[in-house]
Amino acid sequence: CGIIGRVGDGNALEPLLRGLENLEYRGYDSAGVAVQNGSGINVEKRSGKVEELKESIGEPLQGDVGIGHTRWSTHGPPTDANAHPHTDESEDVAVVHNGIVENYAELRERLAANGYAFTSDTDTEVIPHLVQYYLDAGFDSERAFRQAIDELEGSYAVTAMVSGEHVLYAARQGSPLVVGIEDGEYFLASDVPAFLEYTDNVVYLEDGDVVIVDEDGVEFTDLDGEPITRTTETVDWDPEQAGKGEYDHFMLKEITEQPTALAQAIEGRIDATSGRIGLSAFEPGSFEAIDSVQFVACGTSYHAALYGSLALNQAGVQATALLANEYSVAAPPVDETTLVIAVTQSGETADTLNALRQATAEGARTLTVTNVVGSTAAREADDALFIRAGPEIGVAATKTFSSQAVILTLLGQRIATDLRGEPSADLESLLPALESMPSRIHELLEHSNAEAIAEQYRDSQSYFFIGRGLGYPVALEGALKFKEITYEHAEGFAAGELKHGPLALVTPETPVFAIFTGQEDEKTLKNAEEARTRGAPVIAVCPDGHPAVEAADEHLAIPETDSDLAGLFANVQLQLLSYHAADLLDRPIDKPRNLAKSVTVE
Ligand code: G6P
Repeated sequence: CGIIGRVGDGNALEPLLRGLENLEYRGYDSAGVAVQNGSGINVEKRSGKVEELKESIGEPLQGDVGIGHTRWSTHGPPTDANAHPHTDESEDVAVVHNGIVENYAELRERLAANGYAFTSDTDTEVIPHLVQYYLDAGFDSERAFRQAIDELEGSYAVTAMVSGEHVLYAARQGSPLVVGIEDGEYFLASDVPAFLEYTDNVVYLEDGDVVIVDEDGVEFTDLDGEPITRTTETVDWDPEQAGKGEYDHFMLKEITEQPTALAQAIEGRIDATSGRIGLSAFEPGSFEAIDSVQFVACGTSYHAALYGSLALNQAGVQATALLANEYSVAAPPVDETTLVIAVTQSGETADTLNALRQATAEGARTLTVTNVVGSTAAREADDALFIRAGPEIGVAATKTFSSQAVILTLLGQRIATDLRGEPSADLESLLPALESMPSRIHELLEHSNAEAIAEQYRDSQSYFFIGRGLGYPVALEGALKFKEITYEHAEGFAAGELKHGPLALVTPETPVFAIFTGQEDEKTLKNAEEARTRGAPVIAVCPDGHPAVEAADEHLAIPETDSDLAGLFANVQLQLLSYHAADLLDRPIDKPRNLAKSVTVE
């Protein structure tokens, strides 16, 4: 879910709605705003996207202070009643919330017994009633807010306002919340892009922080009201970067931005004189004491993690990639010689944070690889390595996957070097291949025939993706991307597994995209032929002149490159394929149904 709050001169409605549009990637099944002027709080909320909310606000709401919310449902379906902001019965208190109030049932029972009437199925609704309960008991607003927050269990980012005041009250515990500061105008939001067009001065709140914001400034306190110091940082994201520009969709813009994203990811991280991996965050030899590496991640980041773990295995280091949401039941043992790497573009995925916290508690060394400086995962791990991909708004991750995989490849080489005391032989071919990657991806994007292939196979029943070695995570990622934005059935398999079951599904209606990375390609070719013999069209993703081109029905070309990186070029072709297939079906590409970019609940 996404939260926005704003205090300052002039009407709050416009910045609130802009904020919600910029936060829609966090959820978009319902949206709402509440603003107030001298005569009480006005709320507009409904199921559907921010666009629909805007249309249903007839007479513009007036007020210089307000809050807004865009929702990804957890408690209760996406209905008008369940949309935020939530208020008490008399609309004296309005609240937006991200996270889960674990003790909501017991709070609700207590409040209902005291005569407070509930109108939604959400856990959030207990918060305004609880604040009202303490206002009714004679507490002032600040004390009532603090008392209510103190009684919440679970995770939350909360922003509230009380009728008749030009003040916002906010608290953070386990869900992200940032403050934006401009002369006479202040913002609270789940993430920086919400207010980036108004200010780039940002304070990242920490768990346990409570802030009180009015026209004169921001008061930072702990839960007991003791003043605390938080530093203001300036973010260097350009608001232009966070806009769609000339593109129809953020996804296509972000696919196209990959040359820049990758150039930024590697910049300064390869030491040209020694030909070694720099990664200046780490002293030479700083991984010497590491015996094994565990990656934890979800979704697309898990595929990047799997890519990273295979790259490490190939460099001779023991590594595994684990789904973060399985970690609490399936974690291999760790100790101080284990490096646990959380891979998360947002740095806020609840499942990944839980795994990271478990690893920390069990004594592992931890590292976060993320796109978001100041994110929870970056702050909680022992170290953080930033992928520098720039803002990614499309729910389907594209450039962040490529940048993560490249950073993990660099990191893997660096760990292997530290463990062996000298760089691997691979590095000699890998480094120039990495340096030329941005320009070669640019070329691939210019000449891709993925749109024609998407058109050719648009009426198929199912789409299969197969790969071996580093091609395997790419096959998984290709299928995930395809299913999430086209809503068509797609599966990724290790090429050799096809014959152990999935081959039963193969028909002329099931195109098989076979990824060739230069690792045992002859075996992958045999696997592709096994599918083709059973009538499936095969599309080879490989360099021109590769034997698979002749053997397949169609071809998506990638450049000749180091086998450590070939899969990432193949992935760009598959991103384009998914994009065009979804576009042909007229899907809402940037906001696929039921999904959200950043899932901050377990
Ligand atoms: C959500 C998104 C996925 C993403 C996953 C992990 O499920 O829809 O696209 O890969 O979260 O997100 P993270 O921010 O941890 O990389």
